[in-house]
Amino acid sequence: MMRVHTYLSKTDTARAIVRRLLALIDVADKPYFHLALSGGTTPAHMFDVWVDEFAAQTPWKRLRLYWVDERCVPPTDAESNYGMTKKHLLDKVAMPSEQVFRIYGEADAQAEAVRYARMVAQSGMPMQDGFPIFDAILLGAGDDGHTSSIFPDRMELLQSPHSYVVAVHPTSGQKRIALTGEPIVRSPHVLFLMTGEGKRPVLHDMQSSADTGPAAYVVHHAKHEVEVFTDLG
Ligand code: 6PG
Repeated sequence: MMRVHTYLSKTDTARAIVRRLLALIDVADKPYFHLALSGGTTPAHMFDVWVDEFAAQTPWKRLRLYWVDERCVPPTDAESNYGMTKKHLLDKVAMPSEQVFRIYGEADAQAEAVRYARMVAQSGMPMQDGFPIFDAILLGAGDDGHTSSIFPDRMELLQSPHSYVVAVHPTSGQKRIALTGEPIVRSPHVLFLMTGEGKRPVLHDMQSSADTGPAAYVVHHAKHEVEVFTDLG
């Protein structure tokens, strides 16, 4: 199940997804809102919009931030998802650092996937069949149909019994640590941010019925309605 929200520009799309997140945080009747963020280039612009237009109205102290995936590089590397988020968002807002839970991209990948999954499991968010239930998950989709760092050549990772696994980028060979399918499809609010022409084929795949790739799989297997924010009319 998916609902597509379409806007005229990438900035309007970013505004809409930030507003949606703020509304979800607002109605959540609990002290903390557990949000998992994705990396890549699309969220950088969304974080800029968040800082410029919505920082003052965001209850930063009620947020607990996690990552959907991380590249296995140090946080200072230009490829680091945490590093990108720090630069575009965290360095500019009043987010308490003890509520930011980064994936250690510089650590041994397998050991880190295990550590992070355990840390998330003990963070206080609800668990279901051993999987954490994030209040919301922000996802992107790659032109090849990947989401999180689950690529089309490793669809079986979507059904992993582990919450986080080590994945490998199919062309660069870069190791990644990635949230798997079960925690994603169980989250009550999965929000995809997809802007730019390159995403049109994958958006089309997500709207069709076949599990053509990881992003399409998430839409078809989600237990709750998935929301897609896009500028692709
Ligand atoms: C990552 C991501 C990944 C991303 C897509 C889209 O670390 O790369 O979390 O899943 O969302 O690759 O990336 P772009 O926004 O760069 O197109």
